[in-house]
Amino acid sequence: MISKAQVIQPFLPATLTPGEQAEAFAPSNIALCKYWGKRDKELNLPINASLSVSLAHLGSRTRITPALDGADHVLLNGTELAVDSSFARKVIAFVGLFRGTLAQPLIIDTHNNIPTAAGLASSASGFAALMLALDQFYGLQLAPEQLSAFARMGSGSASRSIFSGFVEWQMGNREDGMDSHAVQLPATWPELRIGLVKVATGEKKVDSRAGMQRTVETAHLYQSWPLQAAADLTRLHDAIVEQNFELLGATAEQNALSMHATMIASWPPLLYWQPESVAAMQQVWALREQGVPVYFTMDAGPNLKLLFTAEHEAVLSAAFPDLEVVAPFGQP
Ligand code: DP6
Repeated sequence: MISKAQVIQPFLPATLTPGEQAEAFAPSNIALCKYWGKRDKELNLPINASLSVSLAHLGSRTRITPALDGADHVLLNGTELAVDSSFARKVIAFVGLFRGTLAQPLIIDTHNNIPTAAGLASSASGFAALMLALDQFYGLQLAPEQLSAFARMGSGSASRSIFSGFVEWQMGNREDGMDSHAVQLPATWPELRIGLVKVATGEKKVDSRAGMQRTVETAHLYQSWPLQAAADLTRLHDAIVEQNFELLGATAEQNALSMHATMIASWPPLLYWQPESVAAMQQVWALREQGVPVYFTMDAGPNLKLLFTAEHEAVLSAAFPDLEVVAPFGQP
C-alpha cells in the first residue's frame, strides 16, 4: 500500500518557503450519487464514482498563521480544541504531510458557516479549505485536480468541495490515486434548491469511515452497490444535461435509499434513521402524491436534504417549518 506522504512528496518543492498567513474558503457539498466504500483506506480511494452539488456560500473558511509559542493550535468556530481531540489530530496529521521537515508550528483556525441546526457534516468543506489554505501558505501552486486528490486524503468527500456547482469525483484506477479526483461539470441550474431538514444534531456513534468499512466487510447486499451507483451516475448526467428535475430527484433519492439499504444489511446493523427521519420521508412522499415535485437524499446521519425547484419553495417552507433553503447556483 502506498502512503499519503509517498504520493504527495513529488509535488512539493525542495525547500518550502512559508508565507505570513493564508486564508481560503471551500463549500460544503451534498452527494446525489454517494461515495460509499473504499478500495484503499489509506488514500481514501473509492469503489465507485460519485456526483455532488456544492452549497455555494455555505462551507468552511480556514486561516493559517505561524504559531509563535512552539506548538500547533487548532481552532474551530473560535474555540481552541485539545490537540489530542479527534478533529485536531486529523488536522495536524494532514498539515504534517505538507510541512515536512520544516516542522514549523501553526495556528489553524476554521470557521464553519453551515447552520449548526442543519446537522451537516463539515469534514468535506473543512479539509478542502485546509488544502487550499496550505497551497497558498506554502506557495505550492498545485493544479485544481491535484488539490482535489490531496483533499481526498483528508476526507473522501473533500475532493468534491474543491469545486462549486455540479461536481463529479472520478474513481480512477491508478494505485497512487492521482487520477481519483473531482472535476467540475460545465452546467448550471439556477432554479435548483436544496432544503436542509434537521432531525438531530450531535456526534454520531459510527462515522462514515467506520460505517462504510463495516458495510463493505459484512453486507452481501453491498455487491450490488457499484452497479447501482454506476447506473445512477449516468442517469444524473442525463438529468443535468436535459435539466430534467424529476429524473435528478428520483435518481438521487433511490441512490440514497440504496446506500442505506446496504448499511441496514451490515452486521452489526447500521441504521442512521430516527423516527423523525422516517416521518419526514413519508411527508415528502405524501407531498409528491399531491403533485409537489420534491425528493430527498440522506447521508450517514438522520437528517434529510430536500431537492426541489424555486417555484415550490413556499410550499416546502410551510410543510417543513425549520427548512434551511440553499440556492447552489445563486438566486436566478
Ligand atoms: C455518506 O468523505 O466523510 O456522506 O473518506 O472516510 O472521510 P471519509 O468519508 P466521508 O464520507 C462521506 C459519505 C457520504 C456520501 C458522500 O458524501 O458521498
